Amino acid sequence: MWSPNSWRSFPIQQQPTYLDQVALAQVEQQIASFPPLVFAGEARQLRHAFAEVTQGRAFLLQGGDCAESFAEFSAGKIRDTFKVLLQMAVVMTFAAGCPIVKVGRMAGQFAKPRSSDNETINGITLPAYRGDIVNAIEFTQQARRADPSRLLQAYHQSTASLNLLRAFASGGFADLQQLHRWNLDFIENAQLSAKYGELSERIEQSLAFIRACGLGNAPQLREADVFTAHEALLLNYEEALTRRDSLTGDYYACSAHMLWIGDRTRQLDGAHVEFLRGVYNPIGVKVGPSMQLDELIQLIDVLNPNNDPGRLNLIVRMGAANVDKHLPQLLRRVKDEGRNVLWSTDPMHGNTIKSSNGYKTRDFASIMHEVRSFFAIHRAEGTYAGGVHIEMTGQNVTECIGGTKLISEDNLADRYHTHCDPRLNADQALELAFAIADELKR
Ligand code: PEP
Ligand code: CO
Repeated sequence: MWSPNSWRSFPIQQQPTYLDQVALAQVEQQIASFPPLVFAGEARQLRHAFAEVTQGRAFLLQGGDCAESFAEFSAGKIRDTFKVLLQMAVVMTFAAGCPIVKVGRMAGQFAKPRSSDNETINGITLPAYRGDIVNAIEFTQQARRADPSRLLQAYHQSTASLNLLRAFASGGFADLQQLHRWNLDFIENAQLSAKYGELSERIEQSLAFIRACGLGNAPQLREADVFTAHEALLLNYEEALTRRDSLTGDYYACSAHMLWIGDRTRQLDGAHVEFLRGVYNPIGVKVGPSMQLDELIQLIDVLNPNNDPGRLNLIVRMGAANVDKHLPQLLRRVKDEGRNVLWSTDPMHGNTIKSSNGYKTRDFASIMHEVRSFFAIHRAEGTYAGGVHIEMTGQNVTECIGGTKLISEDNLADRYHTHCDPRLNADQALELAFAIADELKR
């Protein structure tokens, strides 16, 4: 029998060790008494949007930080990330001629799975950094202690971020008729900004025509739907924000519209699958190179027993070198078994490398390669390439090498700000959007 806390009797991976269990329980109780961040009706709306994508009538764009941080929390940062998402969406909408479903890795994307529980520097071993919701990134005993009060701070930061996102989405900022005002001052590459300028001019002409026809007041032109998502890693936090919908009686995880299970916590008999199977939100599962064919079908059936096309997003993250080897057979099997899933590509997490000067980075060429392969494989298999899931920011960071701005290994030190994985900057994100637009046009 599922209940919001039934996950507690299953084996669980990637959790912090809290020394003060009493304080932890108090925090959990407090969060359980707080208002939800999102409402059941909104999560259902995203399920409808996912169903449209699964059936080939829309495309999913998901993006944001690898890890949000307490230090880098400001209106400007949220605005810039949202702006790049909107710009990417505009580029894709124009090419695909279908709705782009926008989901931010925002307003709750704090907790990180790590390859090791500990980190050793110069002979000193401390607990690994697991995201600001757990501990602090500085390499000291004090900073690395898992602190329950950080769950509260993450909750409050998420509510403020979501509040601002909602205001941007419906308060005029996302008005397509203001397209020219989403200025591209942070786009440095002249060719790219010319390409974007050309596109916005064409859109503005179309809008002038629509206005002339008397249709300029459609809410779709003035507002954007924006949804939030994060990895459901800390199940005590997710449980505390799980609410029963009075309308339908179903349970919803109300920390975000969508939650996903990471590649490291998707064990069939594990706590994360147990928790996510019982909430009615649309959910995602990361699919990495170790995923077996039978295992995938079993996972699909546990998480989406009714084969609902709006429920399950499989986020493929194989790496540019592996995607040809692994993806075709997965697509074929899922198609043969008649399972309805939304396939998207995460071209980031399979392409992480270490630069010769010691930075965790990603080569933009590999990211582009994995995205193009993803589309090509779907075309060959007769399945629908439904979306993209990326780590990006509106800031002008130097974290991934390559792109038209040609960030080299030597540039990585300039503005390397991420708390976890390297993100695309605004230029790289927009360049990727144009490449995806070309695929969508084919
Ligand atoms: C992530 O999305 O930040 C992440 C950790 O991904 P994965 O589970 O695919 O490694
Ligand atoms: Co990441």
